[in-house]
Formats: sequence, C-alpha cells, structure tokens
Amino acid sequence: MKPNNLATKIFLDSGDPIETKKTLEILDFLDGQTTNPSLIAKNPQTAGKKFSKEEIYEFYKKVVKEIALMIQQGSVSVEVYADKNTKAESMIVQGKEMFSWIPNAHIKLPTNTEGLKAAESLVQDGLRVNMTLVFSQEQAAAVHAATKGANKGDVFVSPFVGRLDDRGENGMDLIKNIIEMYKKADSHVEVLAASVRSLDHFMYSLQLGSDIITAPLKVYQEWNEKGIKIPDANYQYLFKNLIPMPYHELDLSKSWQEFNINHGLTDAGIEHFAKDWNNLIR
Ligand code: G3P
Repeated sequence: MKPNNLATKIFLDSGDPIETKKTLEILDFLDGQTTNPSLIAKNPQTAGKKFSKEEIYEFYKKVVKEIALMIQQGSVSVEVYADKNTKAESMIVQGKEMFSWIPNAHIKLPTNTEGLKAAESLVQDGLRVNMTLVFSQEQAAAVHAATKGANKGDVFVSPFVGRLDDRGENGMDLIKNIIEMYKKADSHVEVLAASVRSLDHFMYSLQLGSDIITAPLKVYQEWNEKGIKIPDANYQYLFKNLIPMPYHELDLSKSWQEFNINHGLTDAGIEHFAKDWNNLIR
C-alpha cells in the first residue's frame, strides 16, 4: 500500500514485464519504469538467443508496450542505442520512433554532447526525455540548460549512485547536490535517483526528497519486508568509507555548451550499454 506521506515517485528498474507485475503485486502501486539496453539483455526471453537488428528492436517495443499497459498513469523510459560514435541526428530519429510506441514514454539519452543536442531538439518538439549516465553536478546543470522551456515532469535527470560508490565516491552526495542546485534555480528538471543498489540508497533518496527513484525488484522486496515505510527524522544514511562529493556553486543561466560535461563513467556506461545491445544481435 502506498504510504500517505510519500512524495517521491517510485519506478521499477527492469526490462522484464514479469517483474513489473511482481512489483505491482508487492507494492500495489508503481509510478513508472526505467529500461535500458543492459536490462533488455537481462530479460529471460533473450537468454541464449541472437536477433537481427529489426527483431531486437521489435522485442524492445513489445516489452515496453507490455510494461506501459500495466503502468498506464506512469512513465516508461525507453533508451536509444548509442555508442561513442552515435550522432544526435540518429538519437533524434530513434527517439521519435520510440516515443510513438506508447503514450507515456520518456526517451533516455546519454548525457554527452550528442545526447544533449538530441535532448534540446526533442524537447523543442514536445517530447519527454530522461538524461541518463549522469555522474557530475556539471552534467545535471547542462541538462537543465539544454532543456529550458520544457514543462516540469517532461525532463528527468538520472544520476547513477551505485556506479560512483563502486569507485569509492559517495554517490548519494550527487543526488543531494543536484536536488539542492535545482531547488535554488527552481528547475523544471526532475531528479531520478538511479543505479540504486540497496534499501539504504532507496531510503536516503526518499529522505532527500528525490522527485523519483528507480530501483530493482529486490529493493522493493526488501522494502516490503520492512513494512513499506518512509524514513523518519532519525534515519541516517551510513556511507562508510566513501569519499564525499562536494557541492559546486554553478550558474544555471549559462548555455549547456559552457559546462564541462565530460565524465569517464559516462563514456564507459555508453560503451557498456552498446556492448550488451550488440551482443544480442547476430
Ligand atoms: O537505472 C540505471 C541502472 O539500471 C544502472 O544500474 O546497477 O547497472 O549501475 P547499475
């Protein structure tokens, strides 16, 4: 049952409609779902199979349609194929096609130069976007700047907590910093805490007031075991030996091209998604 005082939107991070069903059975509500090429590659129906480019695209479309039917009031994020050479024009074509698959799509684009160019153009055409693989406050500032004029809710920014933790930085600090920066600027962009690996990531994201959290089924199973409660004022996130990420004072009135958006984890993430997708193709 949804807690009365829950202000954050709860999304499932999965490429498998069976998990959508299971999460709905556990929580009794779901505000959306995020997918990506790696999650589609983990869908049990792809196990041991190879597809043509057209077939895998059709499979992705079928999966997304099934999910969208189960979460009709929510949002479903659908990710374009991008490797390090993919140009904005290709992302725009893919994004427009994917946006037509379901009525409630957000198009996921990498937060690199080409992805931001694509976002700028898609938002101007009235599409909704989810900027993914965000690892720095500067990237989040660039997302705000590139999508100015969009309605609240039409643009998500997805900072990846777990992958920062993996290399010893406190990923939750990035969520906190972006929320603070956007609040000061009264930003139209919604913060979507992603790469959430544990109930602690989830609970602290709730406490920080993230607009949205996406988490895998196992986190919701654990949340359910603990009674589907939101953290009280005494809740404390213990980040052990992780290095703090300091807050940077950034001027969000600048154009997006003026921010330093380069990040090694974004490049690595793009390559990883591309590899998982290409592995599905014969
Ligand atoms: O929401 C993004 C997510 O799927 C990435 O998670 O665990 O691969 O870093 P992870």
